[in-house]
Amino acid sequence: MAENSTPDLTVPPAPGFPRAVGKVEVDNPVWLAPLAGISYASFRRFHRSLGAGLTHTEMVSALGLKYKGRKTKELLSGGDGDEPCVLQLFGSNAEDIRTGAGSALQIRSFAALEVNMACPMPKVTKKGSGAALLENADTAAAIIKALKSFDLPVWAKLRLVPQDARLSTEEFCAELIDAGADLILLHGRTPAQRYEGRASKEAVSAAARQFPGMIGGSGDCSEPEDMVSYLDGGCVSVLAARGVLRDATLIPRTLAALGAGVPEELTNPSPQTQKEMLLRLCRGICAAEGERPALGMAKRMCAAIFRGFAGAPGLRSRCASAGSWRMMEEMLAAFPESAQAAEYKSGADTALPPDND
Ligand SMILES: Cc1cc2nc3c(=O)[nH]c(=O)nc-3n(C[C@H](O)[C@H](O)[C@H](O)COP(=O)(O)O)c2cc1C
Repeated sequence: MAENSTPDLTVPPAPGFPRAVGKVEVDNPVWLAPLAGISYASFRRFHRSLGAGLTHTEMVSALGLKYKGRKTKELLSGGDGDEPCVLQLFGSNAEDIRTGAGSALQIRSFAALEVNMACPMPKVTKKGSGAALLENADTAAAIIKALKSFDLPVWAKLRLVPQDARLSTEEFCAELIDAGADLILLHGRTPAQRYEGRASKEAVSAAARQFPGMIGGSGDCSEPEDMVSYLDGGCVSVLAARGVLRDATLIPRTLAALGAGVPEELTNPSPQTQKEMLLRLCRGICAAEGERPALGMAKRMCAAIFRGFAGAPGLRSRCASAGSWRMMEEMLAAFPESAQAAEYKSGADTALPPDND
């Protein structure tokens, strides 16, 4: 592999794939979740290149699209390698969401349109969007029906419906499916839990058993076993969310656990490949989003990427203290020679110590 080049590795389809899930043709059921402020195009392409069967945009405001906000439109940018990608929209009513989707589709195509019925944050719910829709099944169903006019698969992402709500989670899912939803991605927490407490894989699996072929799972996916347990429980797909921020190889390791012939360079990458992965991700962010987000992502991801090799702890702490993207890029480009020199100066005379942390 040439210095600083992108590893030219491809992940073959998982056993039984490619096939359609939620009416979208995918190579596997292991997908990148929507992550606000994180799942922009370069991040999506990065995880797609590591094998993600499908990616999501972060939640995009339907009203922002309707009023053609520049920042909102930037969230739609894609590029080569950004397929299949699902556009996730949030809004409080069918008309806004249909208009927003129409504006988005004038800019680029997407594999499916998805409605956010999951976001628990008050600034979203107090306007009737996100998880507020869980308590308003009629509006939620009207939104699904309105989006069917675009001749694209229509999905919804929800959370478990609170116990005291008028409909149960299963009854709410039934309303959406009756309205024409092609897939429901279910996060196994209630809105009140936000991102804390345990996600109930059991509750997600119960819904998956009731609606075979219609439910994907999300929640507490840190290890391949967590991801596989949703599929074993009857889900047709599973979302990697915070797990990929802690371990950049969560998706390829899950695919390997499912029997896909994933190159070992992706499941157990060499230090050189780990460096190239981070450079590739952050150079893409720098080109598209600018130096500050590139530096921020590099700092965030170096702990997830540089693991398990001699010199990794030192590299992580140098990354954490880099003052600019340029400094970060130079330091990464100089690795591993720089790390060996630093260890040598600090007294290590032969092999570098293992990374046991
Ligand atoms: C920083 C962050 C941003 C998120 N943004 C979105 C979003 O835009 N749309 C959405 O449907 N879910 C969003 N989620 C929820 C995730 O997609 C996922 O369902 C949730 O984190 C549960 O999975 P986990 O416990 O494995 O992280 C977000 C989660 C986090 C942590």
